[in-house]
Amino acid sequence: MNTPVNVALPSMRIAAIVNSASDLAVGARHACALVEERVRCWGANTRGQIGTGSTSAGLIAMASVVANLTGVSDVQAGGDFTCALSAQTLDAARRARDAPPVMERPKRYLSGIQPSGELHLGNYFGAMRQHIAHQHQGNSYYFIANYHALTTVHDAAKLRAMTFDVAASYLAFGLDPTRAVLFRQSDVPEVTELSWLLSTVCAMGLLQRAVSFKDKLEQGFEPKVGLFTYPVLMAADILAYDSTTVPVGQDQIQHLEITRDLVTAFHAIYGEVFVRPEPLLGEAPLVPGLDGLKMSKSYGNTIPLMAAGKPLKERINRIVTDSTPLEDPKDPEPRVAFKLYSLFATAEERAVMADKYRAGGFGDGHAKVELRAKIEEVFADARARRAHFDAHPDEVEDVLREGARQAREVARATLDRARRAVGLS
Ligand code: ADP
Ligand code: TRP
Repeated sequence: MNTPVNVALPSMRIAAIVNSASDLAVGARHACALVEERVRCWGANTRGQIGTGSTSAGLIAMASVVANLTGVSDVQAGGDFTCALSAQTLDAARRARDAPPVMERPKRYLSGIQPSGELHLGNYFGAMRQHIAHQHQGNSYYFIANYHALTTVHDAAKLRAMTFDVAASYLAFGLDPTRAVLFRQSDVPEVTELSWLLSTVCAMGLLQRAVSFKDKLEQGFEPKVGLFTYPVLMAADILAYDSTTVPVGQDQIQHLEITRDLVTAFHAIYGEVFVRPEPLLGEAPLVPGLDGLKMSKSYGNTIPLMAAGKPLKERINRIVTDSTPLEDPKDPEPRVAFKLYSLFATAEERAVMADKYRAGGFGDGHAKVELRAKIEEVFADARARRAHFDAHPDEVEDVLREGARQAREVARATLDRARRAVGLS
């Protein structure tokens, strides 16, 4: 038996969905994804109406999704209930939904790193290394999030120095500016305007739930407005460049969710403007710090990416060890020195060190010596390139300027779409 299902959703918003889905001809599958998210977010199974009375692709897709979500085989759709979709129509809608997408966007990677402290091994293995690798897989945009850093760094000279450090490190570790666009966030001020537009549709509750804000307060930062609205600016970064894929660490996943929620909120009112981004969690390891906790600028437990010689030795010497007698066999796996060594070593080298630990007569002190030699060896080329950029900061500046020029073109186009959608132009 067919049970009509009506879902309580504001018809004005649904009209926007229907129009956008059909107008943009993005295909039924995309429309389904959009509608599914709306229905979930606003709550299905409530009595009311689901849309205006037309059989556009968007409406069919919507009905199909409602049918799937509620498990009933027929759905009555339409603001004025003029359009009751038959089982046959629904079947057609389901077929359309399962068809290959009409239009696949090429991937665009985007990510940012804050210049808020000295870069460390965690930043490299957890973020930068993946970013640099993606430059071969699609078009890539990476930026130095200096607007964001202002939420915690209030020292102009330090901010400038850290900004240079991030840019020069990306280049030293292999970012190729002919493949990836590297720029300073603040060289594209369009993102701040976009951030404002997004903030006007952003519910307070969305930001109040943000774990990073709570963390910062726990770390003793004052609850400033900029810290609170940090995720809105981050959403603007992501959306400004039509990013499809955002490689980030686990700690940024909630920010991506907030971004997607903001897309939903904005589209529900103004129609389709932005590309909906996906997070990309790499296989990046959680790099432990000297004390065994997550390596982080805020814990003072880092090995700086550019540390070499004596400073490197001093940091490595601070890695936690235990008091197991040297001659005893040891399990290498939980040991910080071993974990850090594993990031640099080949599989064979790692196995050799593991065997030495297990055999006894080998301890963390030995591992630290090997670790230091390995870091010096593996990072030698990057260090040499970095020394070159330190001596030629104008080359870094040229890369950032050209990056900003390219990034700004994309951001300008997105902002123009958003300004038109909201009625500013
Ligand atoms: P920090 O914790 O030192 O302040 P950030 O928050 O600036 O580092 O992180 C910049 C990038 O580096 C993020 O993508 C984050 O996921 C990654 N990252 C930072 N620390 C680590 C770590 N210890 N292990 C893996 N990835 C990390
Ligand atoms: N919040 C990110 C971090 O602390 C930095 C960042 C700012 C970012 N804007 C972004 C990351 C946009 C990815 C996409 O690591």
